[in-house]
Amino acid sequence: MQKRVIAVCGKGGVGKTAFTTLLTKVITEDQSAGKLLVVDADPALGLHYALGRGSIKTIGTVRDEILRVAEEGNRQAQEELADRVDYLTAQVLDEGKDFSFLAMGHMDSKGCFCSVNDLLKGAIGYLTGEFDTILIDGEAGIEQINRQVVENIDTLIVVTDSSLRGMKTISHIKEMKDQGLLPFCKRLCVVFNRTKNDVSKLEAFAKELNLEVLGCVPGDDELEAFDSEGRTLLELPDSNPAVRGAQDIWKKI
Ligand SMILES: Nc1ncnc2c1ncn2[C@@H]1O[C@H](COP(=O)(O)OP(=O)(O)OP(=O)(O)O)[C@@H](O)[C@H]1O
Ligand SMILES: [Mg+2]
Repeated sequence: MQKRVIAVCGKGGVGKTAFTTLLTKVITEDQSAGKLLVVDADPALGLHYALGRGSIKTIGTVRDEILRVAEEGNRQAQEELADRVDYLTAQVLDEGKDFSFLAMGHMDSKGCFCSVNDLLKGAIGYLTGEFDTILIDGEAGIEQINRQVVENIDTLIVVTDSSLRGMKTISHIKEMKDQGLLPFCKRLCVVFNRTKNDVSKLEAFAKELNLEVLGCVPGDDELEAFDSEGRTLLELPDSNPAVRGAQDIWKKI
């Protein structure tokens, strides 16, 4: 089976986490997708709520633990560190029947801890290697995704609502891609979220930018109600229009 890495990005609040969850639902219902890993790469976290997972152990806490041992200077503990990184990282993985979940958490570096980052990267690579499909919910920027989670992204999905600022974000990312600043990302496409009936203006905008449109997820009251009640979006019925939008999008990925 060919391995696939899909990352979701876009301006704050456009619906990245909601869309990632809808896509998770659709992918878990597709046998051909193989083993799925869903990653929360947003330091603010929150995807685990939408996915109905309780765990908030993160790679960031492992990193803190490693840094603490490294700084305390106990020679033996330092030597054992390399072995423990794999173990600690594996413990962060929240395995489930339909998919596994990994939260990155805070990864900001104070000073240079390149060796720690290298150790972590190795451990994350080892973990992600076990999966066929990797789906990443990013923060507003996209820079951190490839530095910290994976080397390459097959499909980078920029989510936008119909606001001008959301649109500006996609044109900015497209410019970066055109300038060769995203060499780690193969395919760049856009998903329109919270659409109302007429999407022709949005499609015209994407066409002008020469951007591939994967599809639309309509604005949906049921989805919003689930979110505000803290219910996982995985439980939305298959007949829900937003779920159907995600199904069509998955076919194009
Ligand atoms: N298609 C939709 N229909 C109705 N409500 C939606 C839809 N998509 C997202 N929302 C609502 O919009 C709000 C923001 O969505 P979400 O948290 O997914 O955005 P985000 O891009 O992940 O935000 P952040 O940048 O803070 O991580 C949530 O309250 C969510 O329920
Ligand atoms: Mg989010």
